[in-house]
Amino acid sequence: MSLSTEDRIPFHRPTLGPEEEAAVLRVLRSGWLTTAGEARAFEEEFAAAVGSAFAISVNSATSGLHLALEAAGVRGGKVITTPHTFTASAEVVRYLGADPVFVDIRGEDLNIDPDGIERAIDRENAVQAILPVHFGGYPCAMDRITSIAGRHGMPVVEDAAHAFPGSYRDRPLGTIGDIGVYSFYATKTMTTGEGGMIVTDDAERARRMKTMRLHGIDREVWDRFTADRPSWEYEVVDAGFKYNMPDILAAIGREQLRKALGFLEARRRIAATYRAHLADRDYLELPPVCPESSCHLYVVRIRRERLSIDRKAFIDRLAELGIGTSVHYVPLHLMPYYRDRYGLKPHDFPVSLDVYTRSISLPIYPGLSDDEVARVAEAVRTVGDSAYGS
Ligand SMILES: Cc1ncc(COP(=O)(O)O)c(C=O)c1O
Repeated sequence: MSLSTEDRIPFHRPTLGPEEEAAVLRVLRSGWLTTAGEARAFEEEFAAAVGSAFAISVNSATSGLHLALEAAGVRGGKVITTPHTFTASAEVVRYLGADPVFVDIRGEDLNIDPDGIERAIDRENAVQAILPVHFGGYPCAMDRITSIAGRHGMPVVEDAAHAFPGSYRDRPLGTIGDIGVYSFYATKTMTTGEGGMIVTDDAERARRMKTMRLHGIDREVWDRFTADRPSWEYEVVDAGFKYNMPDILAAIGREQLRKALGFLEARRRIAATYRAHLADRDYLELPPVCPESSCHLYVVRIRRERLSIDRKAFIDRLAELGIGTSVHYVPLHLMPYYRDRYGLKPHDFPVSLDVYTRSISLPIYPGLSDDEVARVAEAVRTVGDSAYGS
């Protein structure tokens, strides 16, 4: 039986409505396409939403992480992060001539192991910063991480690409370390297509990031066109980057921000439905129940020893049933660049390796209907049950 496109449930669909369409039109008709009032309003609204002193919009979380580490003072040396992440978390370290030091994750939350951070700091010279990643929106052990960082006088840059609007002990993820960076890439918890936001309470670092975001120019572009000083008068104080968020994207972001808590409720409901349908299958390990998570990803791990098929075959069979899935992540220490540059072996990070070989990310986004969620769960049971114990 071949499935029609309508019968397929994609891994992700963005949730956009007439509000976003109207916002884009408003900007197009304004005649101002680059960064100006919409970006500034988005920053103010986002800063208010997470309660941080400064929010700086950027064209991606990758740019944001680069600016954040730069403002945190990383120049060469080493930065601690996890291999269980997207390459952006580590590549930005390389942009600054520094080297990532990978620390394995813990099986319980798939986040960086604080004991491993301590060991890495004792072992390595010249660690300059810690970059924890809130995987799938689950909070890292931030109390431990900030206390280790405090003891060693190191900044913490939170990779909160998955984490909005999750929290940790009632504080928004991304606002607990020195600088936090969110992603608004198309598949994230809210989107601008491409885009990101940096938050910090540190005025000095905020100023540095704003300057470096736009060519190392010491005034924002909108100031150039609105301030009393003539627009041609500006100073370049460093070789900066071109990382600003255009107003068209910011206008979409403002609408998405208004909907973000509703999106979170929808993802929570889907996670609860998956748990209700799948918890009794002992060949699956489900993600922990975590009311603080942003529920960005729903990663189930198969128990390989109870099934006659491996993860790849499981995914292929789900695809035959019309269910789109993904894998988060192929760990960075298996990637040729990091593997070869740092001489890493697969078993150097046993938890990341094990999690990778068993993980399947199921669809979780507000546009999934109840019926579709039930169909995904049903398909997982069908594939798993038929391969069980045989
Ligand atoms: C953990 C993590 N960090 C950083 C990024 C980079 O985000 P962006 O695509 O907005 O640059 C991603 C993107 O997928 C991510 O998953």
